[in-house]
Amino acid sequence: MENNDLMEKIVSLCKRRGFVFPGSEIYGGFANSYTYGPYGVGLKNNIKALWWKKFVQDREDVVGMDGPIILHPRVWEASGHATGFNDALVDCKNCKKRFRADHLVEDATGQDLEGKPEEMKKVLDEQVDCPNCGKRKWTEVRNFNMMFKTQLNTTDDEAEQMAYLRPETAGAIFIEFKNVLDSARVKIPFGIAQIGKAFRNEIVAGNFIFRLREFEQMEIEYFIRPDADWEKIFNEWLDAQVEFAMELGAKKESLRRYEHPKEKLSFYSKKTIDVEFNYPFGFKELFGLAHRTDYDLTNHAKFSGQKLEYFDAEKNERFVPHVIEPTFGLDRSILVALLSAYVEEDVNGETRVVMKFPKNLAPVKVAVFPLLKNKPELVKKARSIYEKVKSRFVCEFDDNGNVGKRYRRQDEIGTPYCVTVDFDTLEDNTVTVRDRDTMEQVRVAVKELPEWIDSHLNGSEK
Ligand code: GAP
Repeated sequence: MENNDLMEKIVSLCKRRGFVFPGSEIYGGFANSYTYGPYGVGLKNNIKALWWKKFVQDREDVVGMDGPIILHPRVWEASGHATGFNDALVDCKNCKKRFRADHLVEDATGQDLEGKPEEMKKVLDEQVDCPNCGKRKWTEVRNFNMMFKTQLNTTDDEAEQMAYLRPETAGAIFIEFKNVLDSARVKIPFGIAQIGKAFRNEIVAGNFIFRLREFEQMEIEYFIRPDADWEKIFNEWLDAQVEFAMELGAKKESLRRYEHPKEKLSFYSKKTIDVEFNYPFGFKELFGLAHRTDYDLTNHAKFSGQKLEYFDAEKNERFVPHVIEPTFGLDRSILVALLSAYVEEDVNGETRVVMKFPKNLAPVKVAVFPLLKNKPELVKKARSIYEKVKSRFVCEFDDNGNVGKRYRRQDEIGTPYCVTVDFDTLEDNTVTVRDRDTMEQVRVAVKELPEWIDSHLNGSEK
């Protein structure tokens, strides 16, 4: 399948089947915003749950938290976002459209001129026509801060009212370092994890849910001793990130690690590696991992006037921990799960589209069908089985159209098991269970059905 085709097919399946809708569609749409529909939110919640289990519940050294989206504005001064979190933008003087200058330059020349606005402007003037109107009339290249501003209405003073929507979840974690330390009895090395929304004023549209203005991050700040063997810890986190990508369904060969060159690193970072995925539009960032030294805690201590230190009672030592930051984009995780699950199979000359999600991620686990809609005894029996199953597993009842059509629908939303109630069920109290991946059908006794489903979903079946 051509890559572009795959993206188009995913976008169309997501809309048709209720995974992802274009944002504000009835008002003509709103760039870079999407809505997760009934199955999309199911998939999203399952990915969050998988992440939380793997990185918080299953680990003794990581605790969770959930901080506010609107934080004290000084947080973003301390973190450097208020001054340094910029995109280089340029406007076309003819059609007034605005573009990312670095993207236009990179597309035209392959050069990365980030941080060099004059050089970007020179390339634009010499080589780049406006992608919208074809003219070449560029304004200067200017830096625009990517944080969304909002106002608090607490005073008349505009400057004092001003606050930001957080551009990353990490800031909320750093400022709670001391509270967590004082309340959770954590011992270094330890991590604080958080899942939540972040906001960036992205002007580039496109690539579906890859780049959004509001998106969710799953982040961990992992605090270590300044003299720790940080490379070992860094590599363990990197392996865990790759493992998590594979748990989303990504194949090993669709992942690669990209280390940021030393000269491009922020001055405080010792090492930064992106886990990249081979999307239909090429290898691009999925997750990031950075060694941020003691930059954040030191700066928040400086700006807040509070001590943000760790006291090691065994060694009778006080120090500012260093931090390793594994960061995961939730929306990109969803995109990877969707792209990796999509399969087209030829079945008796017809194309079967099936989303082969890992079973724990599938938004619906079981569907229950009466073979025929117009046989009340079948419908009644099927509903009683549905009622029983749905208290344990996300389950759908469907009596619409023929069974083949119902299978196709469940295949497209990735439901692992379909249960059909037929006339034999009324005789012997067994049902047909059909497997999403193999399409094999087996008879299962109704009274054993919940256990059968459970063991097959978690892979412990005999
Ligand atoms: N605290 C570190 C941090 O925020 P980042 O690389 O800017 O690092 C982390 O963002 C992750 O958030 C990325 O790896 C990506 O998965 C996701 N992400 C960033 N910007 C995004 C956007 N505009 N839309 C969707 N996901 C985004």
